[in-house]
Amino acid sequence: MRISLSLDRSYYEDLSIMVDALRASTTIITALESFKTIIPVKEIGKAERLAKKYNTILAGERGGAKIDGFDTGNSPLDIKNFQGDCLVLTTTNGTRILEDTISSTVLVGSFINAEAVASKAKELSKNHIELVMAGVNGEFAIEDFLCAGEIITYLNDEELDELALAALMASNDRKKVDDAVMNSNSSRGLRELGLEKDVEFSLNRNIYNTVPIYKDGFIKALK
Ligand code: MLT
Repeated sequence: MRISLSLDRSYYEDLSIMVDALRASTTIITALESFKTIIPVKEIGKAERLAKKYNTILAGERGGAKIDGFDTGNSPLDIKNFQGDCLVLTTTNGTRILEDTISSTVLVGSFINAEAVASKAKELSKNHIELVMAGVNGEFAIEDFLCAGEIITYLNDEELDELALAALMASNDRKKVDDAVMNSNSSRGLRELGLEKDVEFSLNRNIYNTVPIYKDGFIKALK
């Protein structure tokens, strides 16, 4: 099995895991506790139209902050206050990457489901697992790199590309990982918006077995 790590987009057609630890992946995993389906959307206007059409809760952020007129932001903690059949979600990076992905099987991973997503990826991939770090507007984000490293720990494999190997090696000390994520640019931005509790929550390890799968525009929990 080949394991590779990429940034901002997928390059391979087998299986990819979208990793946006702060916070899109974490919100999606959490939201699947109270919603059957999530529609991830990259544009605000399209999100608004779909939410109206399907009469759903509308969630999303820009610059980390809740979008005006939306029911809630991209908050894994706040989303627990909502429920329904379907949620429409737009975020700056995570939902954009899902909409643009080219892999035939696309899973969503974070610290909170690292072991579960790794196990499903092994089961469903043919010969290549690509971890796609969401990053921030095409730039590297340390929290996604370290989170990818933790997921790779559970893949305990074989043929890692050099970036995947670096992520694995970087993530072997939990205290250092937590410190680096807490001090990351993304965390700083969220703290300034009063959203530090989202960061703390996102750093929980393996508290969910939920593995989101994205297919034909919809996210559902893999059974
Ligand atoms: C994103 O998709 O860019 C994010 O998850 C940003 C955030 O809301 O923290």
